[in-house]
Amino acid sequence: MKGAATGVKAMASLNLAPASTDDYRRLAERRLPRALFDYVDGGAGAEKSLRDNVDDFARMKLKQRVMRDVSALDTTVSLFGETWSMPLALAPIGMGGMMRRRAEVQAVKAAEAVGVPFCLSTVAICSLEEVAKAATRPFWFQLYMLKDRGAVRELLGRAKAVGVKTLVFTVDLAVVGARYRDIRNGLSGGGGAYGKLRAGLIDYLLHPGWLLDVGVGGKPHVFGNLSAYVPKATTPSDFRSWVDGQFDPSVTWKDIELLRKDWDGAVLIKGVLTAEDAGAAVDAGADGVIVSNHGGRQLDGVSSALAATPRIADALKGRAKILLDGGVRGGQDLLRAVASGADAALIGRPWIFALAAEGEAGLKNYLSLVRRDFLGAMALTGVTRVANIDARLIDRA
Ligand code: GLV
Repeated sequence: MKGAATGVKAMASLNLAPASTDDYRRLAERRLPRALFDYVDGGAGAEKSLRDNVDDFARMKLKQRVMRDVSALDTTVSLFGETWSMPLALAPIGMGGMMRRRAEVQAVKAAEAVGVPFCLSTVAICSLEEVAKAATRPFWFQLYMLKDRGAVRELLGRAKAVGVKTLVFTVDLAVVGARYRDIRNGLSGGGGAYGKLRAGLIDYLLHPGWLLDVGVGGKPHVFGNLSAYVPKATTPSDFRSWVDGQFDPSVTWKDIELLRKDWDGAVLIKGVLTAEDAGAAVDAGADGVIVSNHGGRQLDGVSSALAATPRIADALKGRAKILLDGGVRGGQDLLRAVASGADAALIGRPWIFALAAEGEAGLKNYLSLVRRDFLGAMALTGVTRVANIDARLIDRA
């Protein structure tokens, strides 16, 4: 760990090439004002679930298997009617466009270049329409059930109009988790005056790279998908206050059945951690579930995404696709996710770190690194196709 950290420091100071998620995280930390870095990097409560997501991957050992002719490797997967270069998608991230200028547009371009799906968040800075202008193939769209059902219906219509076919419906936000870093930084309301000043003005001025690129050049800083519904909002915090009041704690599976009727594309339910909920999601008409504790940002102290995946795979028995979200930090983890029963995995923080650090080129490079490591992991565990990655590759000894 110490060695890795020293390596990262040397990388940053000598201007060496970033090689890992951790490298990009450190570069993003330098570039971003504290409150924004903490918003991405942090989780709820004591951040135990956030750590468990990552640590459970780190603990899982793989089997090195040799002499199996791995000269031709096929990393492609088919998901909801489309073929992608590897079993990976970019998870929805709120306020992405505060981390890099028009980040969601840059992200969709990088994702397309590498051949993985990009999922746009409801609370992104760039709107569906802005992202669609830059996209050449369908991207995914994430939606929450808002109290304003008219807005929900309209957003579905807008998503369909720009060619979205895969809807990611987040269900683990009945209330917003207590994110201590955001509270301290004054990002979720409250916060002392000094905290606000430090996290706001002073810190922004101390990050001129970010200030020029995003603070000045990245405007407007609105939640593009929602500006029509919150006409008076002009800053991200205005939008956050509106959204926080819009998360609907009364939602049940019945609402998913209704949503299913309004949406003829694929529906993925994001935020499932138990076999019971996964079964209910599929009964309500979901085509897939995303096993997730919201990156450790909601209920702290629940199961990690990796730990929850095998029991959900056992329960669903192939009735729906399973995507794992939380803790994936590279190509080997992608193999671990699939070996644990997932059809694919999502990455959140890693992609926004790479983008925040070095823009579209950085994200493209990061995704290429993940693919290279995934290829290496396949070759050295002795499998040539994604369909052949299974629990036999996990070393439980
Ligand atoms: C939004 O979903 C967040 O986790 O901040």
